[in-house]
Amino acid sequence: MTKPKTKAPAPKSKTAAPARSKGSSGATYPMKAGPKPHPALGLGLWGLGRWSREDEVKTRATAEHALRAGVTWFDTAEVYGTGRSERLLGDVLTRSKTDPAKLFLTTKVSWEHLRAGQVRAAVVGSLQKLERRSVDLVLVHAPDAHVPIAETMGALETLWKEGKVGAIGVSNFSVEELADARAALKETDVVVNQVVYNLFDREDGDGVLDYCRKNGIVVEAYTPLLRGLLAGRYLDGETPSPEVRRFAHHLLERDRFDTLVAHARSIRDLAKEDGVPMASIALHWLRRRGAAVIFGASRPEQVDAVLDAWAHSPSDATLDRADAIAKEVTRA
Ligand SMILES: NC(=O)c1ccc[n+]([C@@H]2O[C@H](COP(=O)([O-])OP(=O)(O)OC[C@H]3O[C@@H](n4cnc5c(N)ncnc54)[C@H](OP(=O)(O)O)[C@@H]3O)[C@@H](O)[C@H]2O)c1
Repeated sequence: MTKPKTKAPAPKSKTAAPARSKGSSGATYPMKAGPKPHPALGLGLWGLGRWSREDEVKTRATAEHALRAGVTWFDTAEVYGTGRSERLLGDVLTRSKTDPAKLFLTTKVSWEHLRAGQVRAAVVGSLQKLERRSVDLVLVHAPDAHVPIAETMGALETLWKEGKVGAIGVSNFSVEELADARAALKETDVVVNQVVYNLFDREDGDGVLDYCRKNGIVVEAYTPLLRGLLAGRYLDGETPSPEVRRFAHHLLERDRFDTLVAHARSIRDLAKEDGVPMASIALHWLRRRGAAVIFGASRPEQVDAVLDAWAHSPSDATLDRADAIAKEVTRA
């Protein structure tokens, strides 16, 4: 049994905790530009490249369930399922008749479409697939050294002025790349950098955290559960499928896997001691650093498990101990 804790403890670090509005999944961070505050927890619809008919049915059920459960931030991209993710999400949101003002919808322009004309075509295409006139946030999915960032940001700023885009962000950008992207904007600013960030993979997140904090940019942490490992998956003999390994890139590579599992088991023990679900440690470790968390799920039960974990805050002592355990193997 886990002990219910609805209120997150005040963070020890200087990181600002998200403001808690209605219930724990309604917590938000302020955003320096853009019409809405930024939710602290959201669901990503990457789908791990699984876009068969059967997978799509599960992904739809998962998104519908998340919406009913109070998730408001949905993250997609033009490349996810080559448009299938955006189409599915658009359909789910339209059918639900949810007031767009209550949602926080993010999509991304592919790293292959960063020329000005391509940016416009990509965003217009995304809006059509999402069945919306505007989207709350558009990210540059990843930088492309062959395209001047000023061209990309200029095109996004024009779309922002037209009201098609509520705010502009980036993903997988270093501090230097972020600074260049910001310098290219004239009337608005970059509001978000989405990077891989979890207890065991801190390099990208830690690398940009201070800069983002100083400049009021929200860090969105993707792969927060390390593909389920930090929710207790793979700790009792199961091994990642070739598909999971392929899409997790280096995160779960074979020569690292056994060490990660051993350390993750220690984190699971800590969670048991504190009476919280294991995923609470992964999620609240990020929250304590001031990052917004974008998790993945392929089944409605996983959404419930993540929301339950989010509603249970481990003690600061538990988070400190988990931090120390994971630091032994982290990439930082
Ligand atoms: N900007 C980028 O370049 C980028 C890159 C990657 C991801 N993202 C975004 O971030 C989102 C999340 O990334 P991610 O999917 O890698 O995150 P993640 O939350 O670390 O992993 C999600 C996976 O963990 C497993 N899982 C979830 N809840 C679980 C639970 N309670 N117990 C056991 N296993 C559980 C599921 O695996 P199974 O499905 O195998 O069951 C699920 O698909 C993506 O959907 C996407 O929107 C962005």
